[in-house]
Amino acid sequence: MKNILFLASEAVPFVKTGGLADVVGSLPKTIDRAYYDCRVMIPKFMCIPWKWREKMEYVTHFYMDYLGQSRYVGVLKYDYEGVCYYFIDNESYFSGDKPYGDWYWDLEKFCFFCYAALSALPLLDFHPDLIHCHDWQTGLVPVLLKDRFAGGEFYRSIRSVITIHNLKFQGVWDVRTIQRFTQLSDYYFTPDKLECKKDGNLLKGGIVYADAVTTVSDTYAEEIKMPFYGEGLDGLLRAREHDLRGIVNGIDYEEWDPETDHFLVRNYNQKNFRKEKAKNKKALQEQYGLNVDPSKMMIGIVSRLTDQKGLDLVQCILDELCRDDIQFVVLGTGDEKYENMFRHFDWKYHDKVSAQIYYSNEASHRIYASCDAYLMPSLFEPCGLSQLIALRYGTIPIVRETGGLKDTVEPYNEYEDRGTGFTFCNYNAHEMLAAIRYAERIYYDRKRDWNKIVDRAMQKDFSWRASALRYQELYDWLIGY
Ligand code: ADP
Ligand code: GLC
Repeated sequence: MKNILFLASEAVPFVKTGGLADVVGSLPKTIDRAYYDCRVMIPKFMCIPWKWREKMEYVTHFYMDYLGQSRYVGVLKYDYEGVCYYFIDNESYFSGDKPYGDWYWDLEKFCFFCYAALSALPLLDFHPDLIHCHDWQTGLVPVLLKDRFAGGEFYRSIRSVITIHNLKFQGVWDVRTIQRFTQLSDYYFTPDKLECKKDGNLLKGGIVYADAVTTVSDTYAEEIKMPFYGEGLDGLLRAREHDLRGIVNGIDYEEWDPETDHFLVRNYNQKNFRKEKAKNKKALQEQYGLNVDPSKMMIGIVSRLTDQKGLDLVQCILDELCRDDIQFVVLGTGDEKYENMFRHFDWKYHDKVSAQIYYSNEASHRIYASCDAYLMPSLFEPCGLSQLIALRYGTIPIVRETGGLKDTVEPYNEYEDRGTGFTFCNYNAHEMLAAIRYAERIYYDRKRDWNKIVDRAMQKDFSWRASALRYQELYDWLIGY
């Protein structure tokens, strides 16, 4: 039996701000239990709903010196869907109504988390052979395993992997600050280690010191070796290219299944979507005050509203698009400029555009099921889970060909009768509009062809099955067979 510990800042169903939580909450349960004991450790944020916090069991607590003070570290656990979750408790670090917010505070918070997590391990009945770190919040762990924790017998054999979910966020501040929070010596703050462009950089530490580096799609693994996508780390990623691999994300096929989804007005599957899917659309039109007509093509977005997601392209063309016979539904929160932009379009085209500016899992399920097409014109996209969910719900993605979008959406080819979505290449609003209008033509004028695309989309397998095998191969390679 090999012991794997996932270390991350968020996991479904406890706390989620984006796709990272979906991955950490769904990959461990698909790792083969006959050979791997895969557990997860996250902070015990006070924003985790009480219904979960009240179920957590106390495991142990201790005091740890950190930044010159003795700090409380509690460990709790909870078994969920067969996976053991550990929670690191410290109310002064993990309070607040969101897991992140203030950059400076977040840096200290997650450096503390990394120290606390490693220090807690010998007190658990679980000795990991490998720690699987996710994103900058856990970037310090591979460094500490080679430094502060390298001496002891307990830690010496632990291997580490870091998965980059988003290179945009690296955990950066001036060297003095990062040095203080990481409690590392001057030795680590040179450009071949944690220093990057004169600043301290936690993700860089993880990438330099982890035994292997992965990211969440093949195309993104290639893209980040180039300056445009590399966010200043492309040189390092080129240098580590032999230890870098892309493993595409899957989605939780139990949670995202149009046939059993409790949030839907009408469940459907590959056989009956022609009749049943549109009943969800009609209910959504009623709920959101749109013109009630299930024959109208409805385009959806469920997303963090940030520059990454290509929303400036949408801004450029939404007036033009609203002259077409379509409806547009967006669910998301994020940058105020985008929240207000969608509120404005909702006000201007009230019966055609609906802006739902909040976070709701239930609403997201209904939107994925109700829409005909799903728009994701990202500037960059490490993997993207939304388009995978859309495909499973027979909601045809319209995407820009970047990162995981390129790897998971096959462009429609009407001559060969192939493809699962509509794609465009350049980051250009009118190229996007042309792709949307092509989709509109197929939807309205060639419904049988449209339905064949839906058929193919729903047939695709984006469960974790294949990718979990690739992670297992990586674990075996690092730990030994
Ligand atoms: P990212 O991780 O970059 O935000 P992904 O596509 O990988 O993008 O994952 C986003 C996840 O967050 C999806 O599961 C999506 O449905 C969900 N999501 C985003 N915004 C909202 C929202 N406002 N309400 C509910 N779910 C949301
Ligand atoms: C990040 C990326 C997204 C990816 C997710 C899970 O948030 O932006 O593309 O799907 O992580 O890996």
